[in-house]
Amino acid sequence: MFWDRYRRYGRVFRTMMLGSRIWVVTDLDALRGPLRDQGAYLEVPFPTFQRLVSAESFLNRPGVHGPWRKILSATLAPPRLAAMVPRITQLMKSHLSKWEAQGQVAIFRAARVMGVDLAVDVILDIKLSDGTDRVWVKSQVENYLDGLYGLPINLPGSTLAKALVAREKLVEVFLRQPDVAATQAQFVKEWEAIGKSPAAYAAAVLDQHAVSSSTGEKAAASASGEMEEQQQQQQQQQQQEAAGGSRPSVLPPSIMTAQLMGRAMLKPSELEDGAMSLLHMLVASADTTRFALFNSWTLLAMCPRVQDKLYEEQQKVVAEYGEELSYAVTCHMPYLDATLKECMRLLPASAGGIRKLTADMKVGGYTVPSGEYVWYHAGLLHYLDPVCWDGNTAVDVPPHMDWQNNFEGAFRPERWLSEETRPRYMFTFGTSAHLCIGMNLVYLELKLMLCMVLRKYRLRLKTPDMLVRCERLFPFFLPAKGTDTVLLEPR
Ligand code: HEM
Repeated sequence: MFWDRYRRYGRVFRTMMLGSRIWVVTDLDALRGPLRDQGAYLEVPFPTFQRLVSAESFLNRPGVHGPWRKILSATLAPPRLAAMVPRITQLMKSHLSKWEAQGQVAIFRAARVMGVDLAVDVILDIKLSDGTDRVWVKSQVENYLDGLYGLPINLPGSTLAKALVAREKLVEVFLRQPDVAATQAQFVKEWEAIGKSPAAYAAAVLDQHAVSSSTGEKAAASASGEMEEQQQQQQQQQQQEAAGGSRPSVLPPSIMTAQLMGRAMLKPSELEDGAMSLLHMLVASADTTRFALFNSWTLLAMCPRVQDKLYEEQQKVVAEYGEELSYAVTCHMPYLDATLKECMRLLPASAGGIRKLTADMKVGGYTVPSGEYVWYHAGLLHYLDPVCWDGNTAVDVPPHMDWQNNFEGAFRPERWLSEETRPRYMFTFGTSAHLCIGMNLVYLELKLMLCMVLRKYRLRLKTPDMLVRCERLFPFFLPAKGTDTVLLEPR
């Protein structure tokens, strides 16, 4: 759809999406300022999204985004990712064992369930200490996510109505968790003590992180989970006491620490902010991961050639490093790296991002007025990659994007392995000031999953043309009922 508009109207055109008027802009020079928050800020205009996230954003408050991003980056830095590996693999194994018992998996549903499980149990690590049913909580998370990009119709039984109810229930549940209340209360004390300055607060958190990351690396090396985490905290506390208490005591870098700080810039911090922090990160992490899983499994299941090359690479990895999967081992899989980038290029798991202009934007002979929304659309930009595309707009689909009629030519991980053929555009995880904080985590999750599966099985779609038969391609693929079975064929 966007490619056809591009062919007709060129580098900038207007579209209506979920009730909002947006300008799709493909001119990267014109976008440079807005992507650095100059003359624009990040805002999602869709009414259902705004209503459910109910967030006046703190990202456009001066001086907040940088410190907030620093805390989040420390939260997902390599030693932290390494320490997450045992829990990710454990969770994935429990999913895989169910699929193995059936010899197949309905991949669309399985990707959703795994995306939600990873978000709730690993990324946000939500503790439900009052006996609240975890399965029920996850069903509410799904209802909430289902409403985000739906129609803005709040009638009984609509996805929006269910999502609004789910949001209330989830906030209520999160508020009851002692972790949330204690973290928020501690944050308020620290925030006031530090003079309510995001820069000073982030510096204190990162300073503390400098102590914990060295112990974090040790934990990563031995990857032995929670016991060690507790030992680290004790050790860290002792180090702080030994330093005469001169280091300000602040919460460790975490998603909630960053989010609480950001929200405190909008209004005095309240208990509900802890709960909303969790909800917002569920939005950022659950369904995005779901589509990354679904899109990459699907492409691989369509391509025995790439699966065989991945299998060969895995055999070498096992010969050199043994069977066990760790963060360090996943860093020695260049063909798998290339394959995942290729999956995210050909079938992006996001549609890029949207900015609200605060200054006029000149682009392609037009002036897009201040106050309008502009969209850098990941998939469309990948069509226009200067290395992959020869500039020919006469074709229905350029060969490097044409998975429908030119699958083997379009899906080529090899293109990432040499400087001459390496694509220059990769917008699936955004770019510039707001580049996705979770990108490395997502690649890690995808790698772990594929290592586990491809070492043992060949994947094959039971309905080979599942993608072509999808009932909807935008904003995301929706397979026709019963067509998304992937067969696991033992090697
Ligand atoms: C395949 C999975 C994912 C995709 C495709 C994805 C995509 C994106 C995109 C396109 C942006 C930029 C949005 C814009 O420019 O407006 C973004 C930003 C962001 N993502 Fe992700 N994301 C994924 C997973 C995650 C996960 C797992 C997390 C959390 C652990 C996360 C956290 C964030 C955050 C916090 C930002 C905002 C960064 C900032 O404003 O500086 N994402 N993501």
